[in-house]
Amino acid sequence: MKFELQTTLSDAEVVFRIRQLPTPLLRWYHENRRILPWREEVSPYRVWVSEIMLQQTRVRAAIPYYERFLKELPTIQDLAEADDDLLKKLWEGLGYYSRVRNLKAAAVKVMEEFGGELPADYKRLQTLPGIGEYTAGAIGSIAFGLKVPVVDGNVLRVFSRIFASHLDIMRPQSKTEFTRLAQEMLPEETGDFNQSLMELGATVCVPNGAPLCEVCPVRDLCAAYGTPLAETLPVKTEKAARIKKEYTVLVYRCGDRYLVQKRPESGLLAGMWEFVMKDGHLTETQVETLTGGVVTKLGKSKHIFTHVEWHMVGYLVCVDTADQGVWATTEELRETFAIPAAFRKYRDAIFTE
Ligand code: ADE
Repeated sequence: MKFELQTTLSDAEVVFRIRQLPTPLLRWYHENRRILPWREEVSPYRVWVSEIMLQQTRVRAAIPYYERFLKELPTIQDLAEADDDLLKKLWEGLGYYSRVRNLKAAAVKVMEEFGGELPADYKRLQTLPGIGEYTAGAIGSIAFGLKVPVVDGNVLRVFSRIFASHLDIMRPQSKTEFTRLAQEMLPEETGDFNQSLMELGATVCVPNGAPLCEVCPVRDLCAAYGTPLAETLPVKTEKAARIKKEYTVLVYRCGDRYLVQKRPESGLLAGMWEFVMKDGHLTETQVETLTGGVVTKLGKSKHIFTHVEWHMVGYLVCVDTADQGVWATTEELRETFAIPAAFRKYRDAIFTE
């Protein structure tokens, strides 16, 4: 099989690496893998939940979320029957809430169409909401032992360096090519091998020009090792600049209650609870005029989403009468209403008041 890797390596050198890589990587993984809750007790459901969380969060940050999620919802059936508010609460702070919505929708489908078990089939897994090639590959190989590759950003970086490839890893065609390459490499222990590549990328072949080559188990097979390419690869074109938006966040308070409102059911942070938002940056005086309340500055905050940045200024607005709307106590804000991480600064200001 021939690969278009934009490399100076010969075809024979590429094939040599494909053959040689699995053994030292597996040995290294068995000796050095991180002990993680979803690795200690493996099931399709556990792998699934962990992989969805890891798409947006680093391993260390994901662990407490993962443990809480599995404790509340230990089975696919529990997830399928879970209350939406509980799900939002379990996901609060992780961001990308559509992912947990998809998890539940997929669990419902698994209960209705697959008899309560995730299917041990790469293509059928991908018929479930939120499960694409990557997640199907991870569940398929790690939990079911299917011989399917898993190519995430870590793997793209590791391959770029090992094969001295100048393919732009932001391009879908590059991923397709590296996926073909990974497929050729797969040993019997596919799940561990896939995880060894991701683990190497996460802990040794790290991004931003600072790989820890001295502890790499496959540096002798790496075409970038000992050359400037180890730091300059992978080739990665910049994404389009994010749109910047300015908002004013108004935390209305009446007695010991705070005004919250539900965001629309579609779009950014769909269905989550938020404080009152106004377009643009309002001054303290403007907020006083607008609200008629006693106003205190809560300061600036910034939140970065994939395609947009929110630049916020916040104010506490104390009012005498609670007009219509949902007025929550601090207890309810903590326990019941999922306030996205974008508003953390203003929510925390309430808790420490
Ligand atoms: N990142 C995402 N999933 C992973 C896994 N299963 N092993 C190592 N790193 C990962």
